[in-house]
Amino acid sequence: MADRLLDWYSASARDLPWRRTRDPYHIWVSEIMLQQTRVETVIPYYERWMARFPTLEALADAPEEQVLKAWEGLGYYSRARNLHAAAREVVARYGGTVPDDPDAVASLKGIGPYTAGAILSIAFNRPVPAVDGNVLRVIARLYAIVDDIAQLATRRTIEELVRAMIPQDRPGDFNQALMDLGATICTPRRPRCLLCPVRDLCEGRRAGRETELPVKGRA
Ligand code: ADE
Repeated sequence: MADRLLDWYSASARDLPWRRTRDPYHIWVSEIMLQQTRVETVIPYYERWMARFPTLEALADAPEEQVLKAWEGLGYYSRARNLHAAAREVVARYGGTVPDDPDAVASLKGIGPYTAGAILSIAFNRPVPAVDGNVLRVIARLYAIVDDIAQLATRRTIEELVRAMIPQDRPGDFNQALMDLGATICTPRRPRCLLCPVRDLCEGRRAGRETELPVKGRA
């Protein structure tokens, strides 16, 4: 499964600006922007942000009003405030270097389990899961998981399935392959199963239930 997903990703990965870097600050900014905003919307904001605040120190040194100004139009401004506060914390506590440590990353303001996993796997090659809504759907279908993904226990199960699948040599690519599969092929309403690199391994499809999965918010 992992080899197929990685081969597919190598051939079909979307060319996104934050995929041309391994700089943890850049990955971090991109993941925060992508939390509630579409990829196409994020791209120009990300480019402008990196021109305006090229380093974590530059961001930490900037007054909050300039940070909020650069965020203007993206909405959910607490994302920008938390990012700014966390940048200052990284400067104060870690000398401006994003820590390569799961507990330290996860303790920063605005960074939950998904964002921590994305930063650690993409920037630091750590084999940790980064499970967002797309990945929950992909895994629920691949394993025909009928449990409610709104339940923490189901999300934990899915995280552990991903953790067990992550190839040690390409954790960031693997996590992003799952994200891309969910965004482009294993879509919510009409999945394009004929284009899927793992369709013959998909239990949800085998059962003919791919569009019924994942189950969400039903008792
Ligand atoms: N959505 C959130 N993070 C992403 C990433 N790294 N690649 C593609 N889509 C994403």
